Amino acid sequence: MTRIPRTDERRLWDSLMEMARIGATPGGGVGRLALTDLDREARDLFVRWAEDAGCTVRIDRIGNIFARRSGGDESLPPVMTGSHLDTQPLGGRFDGIFGVLAGLEVVRTLNDAGIATRHPIEVVVWTDEEGARFRAGTAGSSAFTGLRSVDDMLALRDPDGKTLGAELARIGYAGNAPVGGMAVAAFFEAHIEQGPILEAEGTTIGAVQGAQGQRCFLVTVEGEEGHAGTMPMDRRRDALLGAARMVDALNAIAFRHRPMPVITVGSLRVRPDSPNTIPGAVTFTIDSRHPDDATLDRVGAEMRSTCEDIARDLDLALVMTETSHRASVSFDPDCVEAVRRAAARLGHTCRDIYSGAGHDACNMAHITPTGMIFVPCEKGISHNEKENARPEDLAAGADVLLHVLVERAGAGAASPGASTV
Ligand code: GLV
Ligand code: MN
Ligand code: MN
Repeated sequence: MTRIPRTDERRLWDSLMEMARIGATPGGGVGRLALTDLDREARDLFVRWAEDAGCTVRIDRIGNIFARRSGGDESLPPVMTGSHLDTQPLGGRFDGIFGVLAGLEVVRTLNDAGIATRHPIEVVVWTDEEGARFRAGTAGSSAFTGLRSVDDMLALRDPDGKTLGAELARIGYAGNAPVGGMAVAAFFEAHIEQGPILEAEGTTIGAVQGAQGQRCFLVTVEGEEGHAGTMPMDRRRDALLGAARMVDALNAIAFRHRPMPVITVGSLRVRPDSPNTIPGAVTFTIDSRHPDDATLDRVGAEMRSTCEDIARDLDLALVMTETSHRASVSFDPDCVEAVRRAAARLGHTCRDIYSGAGHDACNMAHITPTGMIFVPCEKGISHNEKENARPEDLAAGADVLLHVLVERAGAGAASPGASTV
């Protein structure tokens, strides 16, 4: 048995802080939307660090980046880890980035200790996890796992009409490697919890059992534009009034099914968006989530009929299309157990936990044994510039990741000077 060293808390923290400078916001967070120039800068930095750590980098057609540390037996499928470098418009320094840089820290630690593994280890940066710009979310891992087609993902458009494919080419990350279609031995993703449970309990590690289902919709409400001064109130077909009633009614649906469903209208556009014109059309998004897929479907039907009723009452037209549908996911019991075991071995407190957020790991669970490692974040705040985490908790998560990756990647033909695992 090889003694597995600890990861370097300081190096991990410094890397996170250096990455956080790219797209830093005045409020202390990061705004680095997928496939912008800032995303390119972050990707370039990761690629440089990965190559400096001796990895071979390959980029696939959807822009996923794979940094490969060779294994003792290169014919074996890689054990993968990773997450995303893109953020919300006013996002934090850790959501996604921690998972990528924890993977890199594992590689650096293995290198320093001269430890070889049988399977190669690959650290992945998935393209456009957040969906903040192209509205789909987990685009790269959805394509990699075959859950969505590569062409559909490349054709996604941002609100300005730019396609994901064109933006990928523009920033130089439309790679040549085929998307997916390869064996993966296992996948682990380290992530901040993005919720309050671990911190409130004083627990360091969350062994993630699964994630709730999610259905997203795009709703267009159409009425008629008119003069704000001349059109009497009883003759208006005000699309924003309809949308406002719908937002309130959707919120009430979540409360009726308390405590589980969460329903969010996070984006709303008004046409023509002028102070003295009655709004003629409104487009808004709905993000709905629940751990039970059947209940999520019932909530979906209720949301649709409620919006239809409101539209009818106000003589408005309604189009509600589903933009994404992800079933709930259970992670592989052996991978969950491996996280628990590693936490125990390292002397960290650990509890089982369910993920409220979606993750690339949820897609990977469809094609390979998958697990996730959560660490606490301050007050559970995420998708917010204030998102924060403690260096020691992040290092604890990276240590657990190191253990589970080494366990899965196995003892290998040691490279010169390396110890066996
Ligand atoms: C990912 O950030 C999500 O919205 O769950
Ligand atoms: Mn994330
Ligand atoms: Mn996120």
